[in-house]
Amino acid sequence: MGYALFMSSYVRALNDYQDEHLDERQPLPDGYVGLHASEMDRRILAARDALGDRLLILGHHYQRDEVIRFADATGDSLKLSRFAATRSNAEFIVFCGVHFMAESADLLCAPAQQVILPDLAAGCSMADMAALDQVERCWDELGAAGIRPVPITYINSAADIKAFCGERGGITCTSANASKVFEWGWQRGEAILSLPDEHLGRNTAYCMGVPLDRMAVWDPDQMNGGVSPDDLRRARIILWKGHCSVHTRFSVAQIATVRAEHPSVKVIVHPECTWEVVQASDETGSTEFIIDRVSSSPPGSVWAVGTEIHLVSRLARAQHPLRTVLTLDRFGCLCSTMFRVSPNHLLWVLEGLVAGQVRNRIQVPEARKPAARLALERMLALP
Ligand code: 13P
Ligand code: SF4
Repeated sequence: MGYALFMSSYVRALNDYQDEHLDERQPLPDGYVGLHASEMDRRILAARDALGDRLLILGHHYQRDEVIRFADATGDSLKLSRFAATRSNAEFIVFCGVHFMAESADLLCAPAQQVILPDLAAGCSMADMAALDQVERCWDELGAAGIRPVPITYINSAADIKAFCGERGGITCTSANASKVFEWGWQRGEAILSLPDEHLGRNTAYCMGVPLDRMAVWDPDQMNGGVSPDDLRRARIILWKGHCSVHTRFSVAQIATVRAEHPSVKVIVHPECTWEVVQASDETGSTEFIIDRVSSSPPGSVWAVGTEIHLVSRLARAQHPLRTVLTLDRFGCLCSTMFRVSPNHLLWVLEGLVAGQVRNRIQVPEARKPAARLALERMLALP
């Protein structure tokens, strides 16, 4: 079986599995399970037409084709946050992405707008790796050691972590602007506490000139993060021990294999990959950066891409035959939570809106909103 065929059957098998298991965590009404794709498409389009300008559908690049083709705007986390902050005419923002993205949209949109996540089980395992009580304990233990870093949270975090940072003079960042945000942080303090992705923090700080021995990894499951007070005091950045299970699957061995098979290949990876993988690659950046970089490369270029498989497969199709796009992991790294947003769920929430019912609304608790919004707005205000 050819590689492309293998990949498409792999994704199709996962699609079928998902459709059969739609009701495991959040039952859809019977009428929304087992629908033919053409019927779903027709009804989604009809609902979208009926809602007109009252509706804005945002789609992250990791969404499946059957969903993202209905998005009014697609992008990385930064671009989608900007959309949510500026499209105040839409009454409903249906966010085809994961929970932290919908929360960010709720924080940034106008009070009259309502944000909807088609499947509430679409979370982000990395965001779940930093819980508020753990971060508060870390802060207290750092304070007891006389260390007061500037807290910076990756946008892939819960709203209460964003609020924690906002309340303490901190800020959010995305994979598209992490260097700029870290610079902001180091203008305000000796050290940064970078939450919750160890790899984004390390990759960004390293490329800004911070040596590895001036970075400490804070393990929330250990007393004092498992770091000695001396190492903490020396650190210019304290990296929370969290990771993305999709991106940490890419390896240096995969890069060596693709370079051996395609001598002219350029390797481009997301900064959630490990430091070793980023060092072995040619370029690194956000999902939007990856798409732009590949699409604007000279015809005939060959790229191996280290990020989620739906983005890579779509990019490969869009670039064919002008450029060759390969996935770095032959088995295709799939974000299973992004994948939870199915066309069935999209149809269900849209038909709900047509019928006057708001399903799966995401609302950050009012008490958390000002501080979490502040952390996001500090980021969005950066030039
Ligand atoms: P981007 O902001 O680069 O799209 O990344 C989001 C994400 O979750 C990557 O895993
Ligand atoms: Fe979270 Fe990783 Fe999925 Fe991105 S790819 S949404 S970081 S689990």
